[in-house]
Amino acid sequence: MPKTHLFDLDGKIAFVSGASRGIGEAIARLLAQQGAHVIVSSRKLEGCQAVANSIAAEGGKATAIPCHIGEMEQIHNTFAQIREQFGRLDILVNNAATNPQFCNVLDTDLSAFQKTVDVNIRGYYFMSIEGAKLMKENGGGNIINVASINGVTPGEFQGIYSVTKAAVISMTKVFAKECAQFGIRCNALLPGLTDTKFASALVKNDAIRNYALQRIPLKRVAEPSEMAGAVLYLASDASSYATGMAMNVDGGFLA
Ligand SMILES: NC(=O)c1ccc[n+]([C@@H]2O[C@H](COP(=O)([O-])OP(=O)(O)OC[C@H]3O[C@@H](n4cnc5c(N)ncnc54)[C@H](OP(=O)(O)O)[C@@H]3O)[C@@H](O)[C@H]2O)c1
Repeated sequence: MPKTHLFDLDGKIAFVSGASRGIGEAIARLLAQQGAHVIVSSRKLEGCQAVANSIAAEGGKATAIPCHIGEMEQIHNTFAQIREQFGRLDILVNNAATNPQFCNVLDTDLSAFQKTVDVNIRGYYFMSIEGAKLMKENGGGNIINVASINGVTPGEFQGIYSVTKAAVISMTKVFAKECAQFGIRCNALLPGLTDTKFASALVKNDAIRNYALQRIPLKRVAEPSEMAGAVLYLASDASSYATGMAMNVDGGFLA
């Protein structure tokens, strides 16, 4: 029996934000393994270049392009560069996000609020607009937004971050509905607690970790690579009828 090609990404150009480490790096590596040419992006070029080099050393195709998604000018410049260098985009993974303040909602600092909204909402929104415009020119594509379980049920002391993740789930539905006519699908991944630098304050703190584990049926924190398979599904033809979906990969937390 022949193997399925439903998960093949040969010839596809994929952009992954926040791909210099953590969940984004795991996603970039898997998409490259499946044949995509991956644009590895984050604010700092060195980290992206290291991941791109390591993908290339394993026989994959990758290019590093830095982009701070909280800066509108950088978003525009990045897409100008993608257009010039590749002429197309098939897969956009909006993964880079920020959560600068861990506090009771009443102590929310205005600059932390603004930064969180600028990166997690405005950044995802305009990355999606630029990405969808390019996809539309080539007959379609796929947008995957990395949201969070916090977008469904807010994380304690993660007020504005949780609000932005709820916005990402809503944004996913907006783009799914309005861009389907252009052959573009848009879905969200909702990771549960995953062992990355981002979550280190939660994972490394015994009290918080144990509290979280009580509410996770699988009784463990996820590895970044455990998020990548879901993104491959959403980015490939395997999910050809899925759009506007929010996919929980959370060890059963939301159940
Ligand atoms: N870890 C978890 O438990 C968890 C749970 C639910 C959802 N998530 C979501 O998963 C996604 C990835 O998180 P992670 O845990 O993998 O984080 P991470 O390991 O800290 O990685 C974050 C990545 O984003 C980049 N980045 C940060 N701010 C950026 C900006 N403004 N513009 C562009 N790139 C930026 C970082 O590189 P530079 O420093 O070079 O920019 C890095 O590559 C986020 O959307 C997060 O909300 C994580």
